[in-house]
Amino acid sequence: MEMERNTFLIKIGGSIATDKGKPRTANTGLLKSLLSEIHTATRETGARLVLGHGGGSYPHATAVKYGLKASGSITDANRLGFLMTQLDARELNTIIANIAVELDMPVFPISPSSFCVVENGAIKVGTATPITAALENGYIPLVYGDCIQGLGGRYGICSTESIFEFLCGYIRPNTVISIGDIAGVYDEDPHKRHDAKLIRTVSRSNIDKVLAYAGGSMHADVTGGMADKLVQLWKISAKIGKECHIVDGTVPGNVYNLVTGAQDVPHTTIDAMV
Ligand SMILES: Nc1ncnc2c1ncn2[C@@H]1O[C@H](COP(=O)(O)OP(=O)(O)OP(=O)(O)O)[C@@H](O)[C@H]1O
Ligand SMILES: [Mg+2]
Repeated sequence: MEMERNTFLIKIGGSIATDKGKPRTANTGLLKSLLSEIHTATRETGARLVLGHGGGSYPHATAVKYGLKASGSITDANRLGFLMTQLDARELNTIIANIAVELDMPVFPISPSSFCVVENGAIKVGTATPITAALENGYIPLVYGDCIQGLGGRYGICSTESIFEFLCGYIRPNTVISIGDIAGVYDEDPHKRHDAKLIRTVSRSNIDKVLAYAGGSMHADVTGGMADKLVQLWKISAKIGKECHIVDGTVPGNVYNLVTGAQDVPHTTIDAMV
């Protein structure tokens, strides 16, 4: 019998995949080195990988332009805007998939809007079968923060972290990592206050305090920046009974060291068990 393999869920944040301050600008060089680091690290550990990425300056600006929020009602005024926002998310997805192909990484793009539906702003109905089938076929499913149809005339714009939270009802990952442009959650937005202090561990003893520190993004962002990231990773940690991690992907080697455990990496660990 084949040994049970570990599964990793890793998100490349829009804050690192793109320049969030410049519309439709992918950080292709950084994406290439990050993807290759993730690929090397997961192969070395023998784990299966589900990869996700955020939207950064692709969908967020379009969403803001059309008055879209994390959830709302589809109207005559935003119906096309919602579509255009989704096309922007897909455009970045295609850019990332093509970089992966250059690296011989067998990713398989799967749009969350094709496997789930939102109700009251949260993903309620759906299936993870396309993801698990792709994994069994030796692919790295590639999901992303997406524009998702809602029941009763509603829509949702869901972060990759919330897609991961949904998938964790079906897949039992051993490690969940959200890679961004900063080392984790700080006691204030480090882009606004340079002496902000990194919080190394988020646990039951400080979660409420840390949630109050975590804010939105400085740039156009409809899914809620660090605040949403923390809420979703906390839910995931409680659901799967494992730690989740936020890590700075701008430092070469950080992701490799965190995934393989080769070296300690200053970052935030979220642990809902303690
Ligand atoms: N207390 C805090 N600690 C750390 N970051 C914070 C805090 N409050 C707000 N932020 C902001 O949250 C941002 C990270 O969230 P953001 O959603 O922009 O990144 P991302 O998830 O990589 O992007 P995307 O949602 O496009 O994938 C940081 O760049 C920072 O500016
Ligand atoms: Mg985000």
